[in-house]
Amino acid sequence: MTIKPEYLKSFINATEKAAYGAYKFVGKNNKIAADQAAVDNMRNEFNKIDMDGKIVIGEGEMDEAPMLFIGEKVGTKKGQKIDLAVDPLEGTNFVAKNLPNSFAMLAAAEQNNLFFAPDTYMEKIAIGSNLPKNLVDLDNSVEKNISLLAEAKSTTPNKITVCILERPRHDKIISSLKEMNVNLKLISDGDVSGIIYVVNESSPVDMYMGIGGGPEGVLAAAALSCYGGQIQTRLVLNEDESARAKKMGITDLKRKYNIEDMIKGDVMFCATAITDGDLADGIIEKNEFYEASTIALHKEGQINTLSKNKHKK
Ligand code: FBP
Repeated sequence: MTIKPEYLKSFINATEKAAYGAYKFVGKNNKIAADQAAVDNMRNEFNKIDMDGKIVIGEGEMDEAPMLFIGEKVGTKKGQKIDLAVDPLEGTNFVAKNLPNSFAMLAAAEQNNLFFAPDTYMEKIAIGSNLPKNLVDLDNSVEKNISLLAEAKSTTPNKITVCILERPRHDKIISSLKEMNVNLKLISDGDVSGIIYVVNESSPVDMYMGIGGGPEGVLAAAALSCYGGQIQTRLVLNEDESARAKKMGITDLKRKYNIEDMIKGDVMFCATAITDGDLADGIIEKNEFYEASTIALHKEGQINTLSKNKHKK
């Protein structure tokens, strides 16, 4: 079974409306209002779609998020059973501060085919397509992973570029990379884009590594699953989060997840740029219209487009 192709258009519309909601708060230094506007618009569009949809990755658990919470049912309940991972605003700081690379995004799969990652941190390592399967591993040293990738690409570590979030928790990894003379792309936020760079032809990034959000890890895995890239992840849990993860049905808390463990079967991924970025242009306002650019992917449909659409304000 696959996701009916006609859903892609509706999902593009949902991320474009969410992006426009947040766009109104670009440079307003108000992360909460920007996020709320994106959430409201995305939810509103979802509820017009003929699907029996369920949010499996969303704004938080039912008691902490009033909308698009984990478990919330969306859609008219008339169509296909679909599980949704959503991040109506990925890069809240980028919108608040008017910086590039903010997106409204979602991933959609058939029921029970997306990993229900809890809202915790996650270790991630990702590489592009056309490389040996399971080439790199979270349990390898940084040096070993870089050497394996350099060898597979018939190059040397000083020609490899690694993207990583600039955080004190990554100081050790960053100094190992510097010792190997690897090129760095340090990002201040937005690790879904950071991971997508590994499959993007115009980006120099060969590998992504480091710890970021769990929900963002699943969204990135959905995108890479469409592009044929690879990602391995492992949850990073404190005591409370371990208890929460167990409640969600995760028995092996130290398990490493490969892409096929997180994304089963068919998947769609949509990401609409809010501010301009490396992967797509942001929202453009033109009189009574606005134009939105969306990375729109469908694995089974082999669709990989940068869709541009005009909407009435
Ligand atoms: P928000 O859009 O929710 O602010 O997340 C941005 C982000 O940079 C993610 O892309 C990333 O996974 C996570 O935050 C990293 O978390 P932290 O800022 O705590 O290191």
